[in-house]
Amino acid sequence: MRDMDVFEAIKGRRSIRSFAPRPVEEEKLHKILEACRWAPSAVNRQPWELIVVKDRDLLRKLAELAPYGRFIAEAPLAIAVVTNPSSRWHIIDGSLLTQNLMLAAHALGLGTCWIGTMDRERAKEILGIPKDKHLLTVIPVGYPAEAGSSWRKPLKDFVYLNRYGAPYFKG
Ligand SMILES: Cc1cc2nc3c(=O)[nH]c(=O)nc-3n(C[C@H](O)[C@H](O)[C@H](O)COP(=O)(O)O)c2cc1C
Repeated sequence: MRDMDVFEAIKGRRSIRSFAPRPVEEEKLHKILEACRWAPSAVNRQPWELIVVKDRDLLRKLAELAPYGRFIAEAPLAIAVVTNPSSRWHIIDGSLLTQNLMLAAHALGLGTCWIGTMDRERAKEILGIPKDKHLLTVIPVGYPAEAGSSWRKPLKDFVYLNRYGAPYFKG
């Protein structure tokens, strides 16, 4: 099977909030981690670490800490993205890595969802993350049990020509 075209991956990825019990193959997980590794970062500092969480009990505990991410409990695994605040770009760098993660997963037929709201201090304790590190997000990964749906503003609503507010796309 050919690899998915990058535009297809970008447009086709949806947040997935329901997962099949099917496990994720190690080869696929490895490809996803490799895609993370090649994310860009300011001054190439790579201020990130990842925790692959497969322990069901830990997944359940993380789900309890995420009011809009209860579905972490049913994912076969989740990836915690930990960044180092000693780089002032750590959130941007970690976010770029996470976008790679989500696109690579989608290209391999897997679903993900960025979990934003979480009791981070408690989640850090549960995962043994040092106090001076930042838990950016926890991304559940698994085979989708739903299609997901979303929408986007049309280009004409946010792309300007030369000056703020001047339409680029007419009509
Ligand atoms: C910073 C950030 C935080 C998010 N937090 C959550 C969350 O806590 N729970 C959730 O279900 N989705 C969360 N999402 C997913 C968004 O709701 C989703 O990306 C958006 O609705 C667009 O849908 P799509 O990803 O399917 O295209 C988050 C996304 C981002 C970028």
